Amino acid sequence: MNSVINYAHRGASGHCPENTMVAFRRGLELGATGIETDVQMSKDGALVLIHDESVQRTTGQHGEISQLHSDEIRRLDAGSWYSQEFAGERIPTLDELLDWAASTELTLNLELKNNIEPYTGMEEKVIEAVRARGLEERTIISSFNHYSLVTCKRIAPEIRTGILYVENLVDPWNYARNIGAEALHPYHLTMESFIVRHANAAGIMSNPFTINDPERMQQLIDMGCAGIITDYPDRLDEVLRSVVA
Ligand code: G3P
Ligand code: MG
Repeated sequence: MNSVINYAHRGASGHCPENTMVAFRRGLELGATGIETDVQMSKDGALVLIHDESVQRTTGQHGEISQLHSDEIRRLDAGSWYSQEFAGERIPTLDELLDWAASTELTLNLELKNNIEPYTGMEEKVIEAVRARGLEERTIISSFNHYSLVTCKRIAPEIRTGILYVENLVDPWNYARNIGAEALHPYHLTMESFIVRHANAAGIMSNPFTINDPERMQQLIDMGCAGIITDYPDRLDEVLRSVVA
């Protein structure tokens, strides 16, 4: 089997409500070997898994995560917006995901959503949760806030970090190396063969997002990407199996 890591983006979010336990479990069932999720922090300092800073889009309720108590967040329905079939799904905590993932072999790509809300102290809390379960070796912490990645690296040199970016960076492998990051997590249209080649030569992995088209998946695999982030881990699984066949 090809060793490219198949990251289910927000879980198998092409099939289930994003960032819910059912989406993470479905990801594993559909062939994911990694999970990407978004970490935000409540008013009382709990780490919760939701993409937006507000609960509006995925729960239909109002409020910013940073202004809501974790008890209020945990009562919300994060499944009905997607389909009634998923009514009652909750916004998970990071602890809940890690407790489940500890019994799997999944790689964890924890995206810290601290590029809009600063979420002071989030890095320490995430690292403590990862260390408490001995998951350091199969965790990558990513963020669009690269200062936060530097903070993570200072606290936990043993945990890999990945720089998220959307625009074209010049020589991103050098930039990653300069801030001690082990991976590029670029918007996939910025990826070209020479970038992956240089990054691989520098020992920097390439894990682009978010790719749902099998042809594009194949191109990125051929370039030498270490991982691919997709809403459809089943599609990527099929592509990866056909590479071997
Ligand atoms: O981690 C890759 C990707 O999730 C970054 O963008 O907005 O989907 O969190 P977004
Ligand atoms: Mg994300």
